[in-house]
Amino acid sequence: MRTVKLPVHLAFIMDGNGRWATRRLRPRAFGHKAGVQNMFRICGHAFHLGVRIVTVFALSAENLSRPQEELDELFELFRTFFDKKKEKLLELGAKVHVIGDLAALPADVAACMRALEEETSHITERLLNICVNYGARQDVLQAVNRAVALGRFMDDTSFHGLLLTAGVPDPDLIIRTGNEMRLSNFLLYQAAYAELYFSSRMWPEFSRRDLEKALVDYSSRSRRFGGLRAKEQE
Ligand code: IPE
Ligand code: IPE
Ligand code: MG
Repeated sequence: MRTVKLPVHLAFIMDGNGRWATRRLRPRAFGHKAGVQNMFRICGHAFHLGVRIVTVFALSAENLSRPQEELDELFELFRTFFDKKKEKLLELGAKVHVIGDLAALPADVAACMRALEEETSHITERLLNICVNYGARQDVLQAVNRAVALGRFMDDTSFHGLLLTAGVPDPDLIIRTGNEMRLSNFLLYQAAYAELYFSSRMWPEFSRRDLEKALVDYSSRSRRFGGLRAKEQE
């Protein structure tokens, strides 16, 4: 039997929480809460299947333009899951790395995120990157500015080292839910050769089975990286 080739680094654009809730005549915050629950379910399953690195897009830099009420509800969810109910994150058995500009978040939210990073910093088997107030263009620009300040020309390897994802291999597969076919400023530099998978499911309803289907689809793809033959990765 042919073995399924898993991505080393799997990333999710977890979109569709609001629409999922609205269709159920519930407030958007209900969708965000269901979305967080599903994040635990799907990340747990991905790690269980053998994926080593998972990155989730939880809040984009541009999402900060949303109404303050929605942002406050999102911040409260972060408080809950990075602090009061942090066991749910710890149960994933992964090193947690929060990627993004935390200075714009309420100070206590940023502090509990940094504390959880510290608490999981010894873990080496699995990595969970959580992108919060993250924008890929902003990241590229801060890296360029640092390179200029250093007075150095960059090559691809050294430039990677200046990005917020420094030390993490590029994503092999990016799954976006919510029936939108775009990257919305997510990992633009790192996604150069990522495989893309778009699901019409809203994030709260994206199931373990849907994840397995996406992984089987990924496994059947021929990644040529500009060459002529599929790269053997087994
Ligand atoms: C994604 O769901 C989560 C965040 C951006 C915080 P949305 O909130 O974008 O949900 P839709 O796209 O409006 O349904
Ligand atoms: C992308 O979703 C950001 C996250 C999932 C966190 P958005 O809902 O913000 O993207 P657009 O606005 O539809 O492109
Ligand atoms: Mg959306």
